[in-house]
Amino acid sequence: MSSQQTARVQRFEEALATEYASRFPQSKARFDRAPGHLLDQVSHALRWNEPFMPLVRRAVGPVVEDLDGHRIVDYWQGHFTNILGHNPPRIRQVLHEALTEGRGLQSGMLHEVEAEVAELICERTGCETLRFTTSGSLGTFYAVVLARAFTRRDQVLKVFGGWHGSQPFGLKGVSPRGGSFDHLESEGLSASIPSEVVLTRFNDVDDLRRTFERQGDRIACFIVEPVLGAGGGLSASREYLNEARRLTERHGALLLCDEIITAFRFRAGDLSAMYGVRPDLLILGKVLGGGMPVAAVAGRRDVLELSAREIHRVKFEGGTYSAHELSLIAAREIVRLLAADEEQIYTDLAAKGDRMRKEIGRVAAQAGVPVQLVGPRDDRLAAGSLVFVHLAREESAAQPSCPEELIAGCHPWISERLWKSVLMLEDVSTRTGLGAISTAHGDEELERTLEGYRAGFDRLRRAGLI
Ligand SMILES: Cc1ncc(COP(=O)(O)O)c(C=O)c1O
Repeated sequence: MSSQQTARVQRFEEALATEYASRFPQSKARFDRAPGHLLDQVSHALRWNEPFMPLVRRAVGPVVEDLDGHRIVDYWQGHFTNILGHNPPRIRQVLHEALTEGRGLQSGMLHEVEAEVAELICERTGCETLRFTTSGSLGTFYAVVLARAFTRRDQVLKVFGGWHGSQPFGLKGVSPRGGSFDHLESEGLSASIPSEVVLTRFNDVDDLRRTFERQGDRIACFIVEPVLGAGGGLSASREYLNEARRLTERHGALLLCDEIITAFRFRAGDLSAMYGVRPDLLILGKVLGGGMPVAAVAGRRDVLELSAREIHRVKFEGGTYSAHELSLIAAREIVRLLAADEEQIYTDLAAKGDRMRKEIGRVAAQAGVPVQLVGPRDDRLAAGSLVFVHLAREESAAQPSCPEELIAGCHPWISERLWKSVLMLEDVSTRTGLGAISTAHGDEELERTLEGYRAGFDRLRRAGLI
């Protein structure tokens, strides 16, 4: 970026800050008060964006309403959890009924819903057994520990740009820094983590083969997302995931599919099944909870059994709030709803996703802005309702296959975060260019979003940024 461009971006950011202050005065006033005790004013970094984020007082269906009364079309949808939109009436109703009947908050006792949801998940995914926990980070942590104990090996293979939550085995090779992913995301980790977490290039079958040939006898597991959430939305190719299955089997390692984002997002079950792949362990969360905190590690009985009462080699206890009754009541309801209407729901969601990919591509072309619309790498795999749009350096028909290629092609000075703050001024809340479409997003919201895109591009043009 030249010094002239840096200065232009800086001026633009200053102008945005002024506009945010006048558009979101009530939120601004809250942030301007004494900083208080909440570190950074937010618990999860992804919920923050510069200059600040509007505070939300209600969230219904496709829309969140902020303190100043703006109705913002939302595609962040609770970190991609809300496949039926915000606060769906049916989920609220079952939660309300449970509370009215005098149950729901954590009792620490057994309840029937726990086993019912386990049955539903195993039925929908073909898994043999499962255990619940409360977050995706804990789920992937337990899955890795199970794999290390089962194989009696130390190494954990993951991809550059793969995100498996904030747990020791996931905190290497996540975000690009100075063009490279090869670093730890956090201090304070065990000194063995840098050598125990091994990185490979996403969708690179040859690199995967080489890695297994070189050190396959030390690899406990390969953990991978079928669609890289934090890594820009890139999908695994069918060949890649199938080769991962073949190599792990051949070398006695376990395949862990991190489907925190993808399970119940593309079908009423796991996405791996659409690839024809059965992982040894499947980690689920997000959509499964219907807006409540639920995660699960599901899969092979002989692996999960390491934490069973009689064997007890792995301490996987899920936590105080695991199998929280209200959470599982929400999970039961959403899984039933999605399964009952699977064909209709996922066909409609994919159609909306396709429409937005096409229309955003058209709006961008009209504005003369190159974009990279990340889609599936195999025609037989539905692209579905996750829509990721990257403002690009130049027009290119080629799909990037890994985060390194994607980043190399991204616009040099309009970052994802900057574009997000521009769209927020148009009452559109996004993540990675758009985000997760829900069943609640209708024509009106989709059209408003396209209008937002047009207005956003105009704003960038007026500022001389495109
Ligand atoms: C693929 C993936 N794995 C794991 C996690 C961690 O889940 P949680 O935030 O519930 O700890 C996330 C969260 O975004 C995720 O996207």
